[in-house]
Amino acid sequence: MPALLENPLRVGLRQERTPEPLIIVIFGASGDLTQRKLVPALYQMKKERRLPPEVTIVGVARRPWSHDFFREHSRQGIEEFSDGIGNEELWQDFAEGLFYCAGNMDESASYQKLKAFLEELDGKRGTRGNRVFYLAVGPKFFPPAIKELGAAGMLSDPIKHRLVIEKPFGKDLNSAQTLNRVVQNVCKEEQVYRIDHYLGKETVQNLLVFRFANTIFEPLWNRHYVDHVQITVAETVGVEDRAGYYETSGALRDMLQNHLMQLFSLTAMEAPNALNADSIRNEKVKVLQATRLADPHNLEYAAIRGQYKAGWMKGNPVAGYRNEPGVNPNSTTPTYVAMKFMVDNWRWQGVPFYLRTGKRLPKKVTEIAIQFREVPLLIFQSAAQQANPNVLVLRIQPNEGISLRFEAKMPGADLRTRSVDMDFSYGSSFGMATADAYHRLLLDCMLGDQTLFTRADEVEEAWRVVTPALAAWDAPVDPASIPQYEAGAWESTEMEFFLNRDGRRWRRL
Ligand code: BG6
Repeated sequence: MPALLENPLRVGLRQERTPEPLIIVIFGASGDLTQRKLVPALYQMKKERRLPPEVTIVGVARRPWSHDFFREHSRQGIEEFSDGIGNEELWQDFAEGLFYCAGNMDESASYQKLKAFLEELDGKRGTRGNRVFYLAVGPKFFPPAIKELGAAGMLSDPIKHRLVIEKPFGKDLNSAQTLNRVVQNVCKEEQVYRIDHYLGKETVQNLLVFRFANTIFEPLWNRHYVDHVQITVAETVGVEDRAGYYETSGALRDMLQNHLMQLFSLTAMEAPNALNADSIRNEKVKVLQATRLADPHNLEYAAIRGQYKAGWMKGNPVAGYRNEPGVNPNSTTPTYVAMKFMVDNWRWQGVPFYLRTGKRLPKKVTEIAIQFREVPLLIFQSAAQQANPNVLVLRIQPNEGISLRFEAKMPGADLRTRSVDMDFSYGSSFGMATADAYHRLLLDCMLGDQTLFTRADEVEEAWRVVTPALAAWDAPVDPASIPQYEAGAWESTEMEFFLNRDGRRWRRL
């Protein structure tokens, strides 16, 4: 029998608890995130009877909306972006708990008004002073909102008051540290929930289960058996209507520093002592502390950026990044980035981790591929060209699952080998769709479980790792020197070369 930790309910990835009565205050109530994700996720929880009846939602934004207008706006969001209202009585019940409070993010008076309104709601709805403040606003509003919430005494109770901060958390190490100080001035770390929606994905959480609830992979999960690891987040979308944000962000800040780094740290971390927020986050921080760009002094060996040019997606012509609406025609913002990380610890010394992400690639796919070493001696001489090393692929999305590629003998008189897959698929094994990431994250926050949220030191370490690339790439550069790749095609020759020079190839997905 394995040792069982005492009190298994004190773990992070358990379920089936109901939050306390509380008020969720959403700053940025008129924005996309609220309408597409947050309100539909809360309604879904209501449908699943996960919320006590007292749970109340207060939207805050500048527009002078009424409660009824916010209710209607929310209803449209649920109808358009989730599986609909369903039972009309349930909606009525939900709508009665929806309120709107117009306010300016940087005006103290708005917070006083909000505070009084929340206290009034406590009396009417029995929410007992419990609050979740969700900052679904642009990053420039984070500092004033946090300071004002603190000054108004709305974050003073470490048990009753929680703060949720959307990404991006800073734009480099300095700004992340500054923002952490703003937060730490007004509340304790156990009140803070920094969002990385990748952590809310079922398949990302399964990484922990896969690694630490099975014995057969752990002995192989190290430098003795692993040749290298490739982590890919490929997207088909372009910049869409987000040029204003994306031009100042780019693929490194928008995706790699957060989502890919999360996938990386969960793949590379050591086993936590227990499945609670701090044990897990301690291990993630520890592995990040041991991580560096492969060659920070010769950046071209450790990082490469690129930009999509015009091309074809699903048979339709699409514009290049520099011709997208709102984008500077001489922009040097990367829409693709690949990096090579090394981890200086006993487990991973000498094993490169290649991370890549890009927009306008041929397929939307997120995966982690653990590429094992070649066999030490190939005895199947005639099949030499065909023997491929084993690969374990964790498919994060779509087609969620895991597959293990190994060599098999092809039927017939000749001794010929071919790669075949052992495959696990969520769809066929569990027969149910995986829940939206925001559903999980909101629920965990209401339950006070920080496991799937980024801790202050973790976010700073993630920025530290990519700092040499940021520093070099933020310097002005001739736009002609940014490698271009065709929209709808995989990497350009430069990007291929980034891996080929190590004697390896990017996986074709
Ligand atoms: C967001 C980025 O955080 O993640 C977007 O800002 C990106 O640019 C998105 O498209 C990808 O998320 P997902 O869940 O679709 O992989």
